[in-house]
Amino acid sequence: MKPLKYPIQKLLVVLLSLISLIACNRKPIPTFSADIAPIIHSKCSPCHHKNGTAPFELISYNDVSKRAKMIAFVTAKHYMPPWPADQNYSHFLNERVLSDFEIEQIQNWFKNKCPQGDLSVLKYPDFKQNASTLGKPDLVLSFQNIEILNDNKDRFYVVKLPYEMKQERYVRALEFVPGQYQYAHHVNGHYLRFSDESNPFLGRMKTDIESPNYNKEFMEMNLLNSDGSLPFRVHSAVNYLPGAYGIQYPKGIGGFVMGKKGAFVANDFHFGPSRKSLIDSSKIYVYFSDQAPQRPTYEIMMGTNGVSEIIPPLVVQPNTISKHVSKLTIYNDISILTVNPHMHLIGKSFKAYALKPNGDTLKLISIPNWQFRWQYFYTYQTPQKVPKGSTIVLEAIFDNTLKNPNNPFNPPKQISERLDNGGASMRTTDEMLQFIITYMPYQKGDESIDLSKP
Ligand code: HEC
Repeated sequence: MKPLKYPIQKLLVVLLSLISLIACNRKPIPTFSADIAPIIHSKCSPCHHKNGTAPFELISYNDVSKRAKMIAFVTAKHYMPPWPADQNYSHFLNERVLSDFEIEQIQNWFKNKCPQGDLSVLKYPDFKQNASTLGKPDLVLSFQNIEILNDNKDRFYVVKLPYEMKQERYVRALEFVPGQYQYAHHVNGHYLRFSDESNPFLGRMKTDIESPNYNKEFMEMNLLNSDGSLPFRVHSAVNYLPGAYGIQYPKGIGGFVMGKKGAFVANDFHFGPSRKSLIDSSKIYVYFSDQAPQRPTYEIMMGTNGVSEIIPPLVVQPNTISKHVSKLTIYNDISILTVNPHMHLIGKSFKAYALKPNGDTLKLISIPNWQFRWQYFYTYQTPQKVPKGSTIVLEAIFDNTLKNPNNPFNPPKQISERLDNGGASMRTTDEMLQFIITYMPYQKGDESIDLSKP
């Protein structure tokens, strides 16, 4: 009677350990090998590894125990792992947060002088440089020799990555893999498909981001079709932020046709300050599909440069805190997959929700303490249905006082979107209020699609 034997044994073990627990009448002391390492390896090491975006490793007992005090502090304060979205408001895939129990385990472990446990049983995660979160790509495109100078200044570039292929292909997913992990802070990458005759390979590879004018940039970088028209574009086709996961929707959802000739444009490629001269050759991983996308995805951009007006206009006077809203009525049933709130340095809080025609509120996202550094693309666990006639509302607060430690000016100056130049400025010291919504037209049953399943 083999199958019976095992559950009985298991039951005995559970009973015995329960009895011993009650007898001792205290919580077991967490050890590194049994309790702490699993938390650190899944929630911290993906950034805190040798080639990771964080400044030091958190993998071995030694790495973690020597910083235990600081780790106990930053986890209790919810400063690490960085995840600005409020979990009491809405939920997303891959939430990089610690549960109350995990935080408590770290506190107990630290208070009890960081016991090791049995280190010999521990398996360490293997983080290789250029590790992808989506697996082996079908095509790898490499940026060539982007310079990071040793002047210790932030750098913003627009960089193009042209390519040529023998045939057009359906693309299912894209992932940006940074070269210089420690310095790559942000990339917003658009895809461009050229009409065949144009030659995207001449002209400038790179431009400083100061100039905000799209058409001019595209012309200077030779990114227009040969007849001078703007090429077919997929906005925000590939984005990057330290610690972000590549987005891959379930099969059949999303994707587009990558033409024989085209280019990726890393718009707003932000490198942090460096004291060393470095060369970056970041990569774009491309994942193809044999099938045309059955459920194409679309994008709505609200606010700055987008389809909905900001009220009052985004001009924040010095020494003031101001609230701005933006509203958009939706005329068809849609299923929202991913959202991306965007503001710059004096952003303080951000909230978005949909008011349904029946009076209900669908909570989309709330970021009570805006963190410029961590602007994720947040994908829901299941598509969020927004029925036609709903109004999507953004509410954002900007703090242009000296109490805001991120205020770029002292004394404070007027900060605005600077729409005067044919489009908003991308300069970090100007402001933006933007909400990018990736959605598909609603179909019955969308609510039960599990977006974590590729
Ligand atoms: C998304 C990437 C990412 C994840 C995940 C992450 N960190 Fe960090 N961590 C950073 C970066 C980057 C810094 C450097 C400071 C900064 O840029 O904010 C940092 C800094 C720190 C610091 C130093 C804080 C200071 O003020 O100097 C500690 C301690 C730390 N992290 C602990 C952790 C722990 C513990 C976890 C997991 C529970 C974790 N981190 C998860 C990216 C990450």
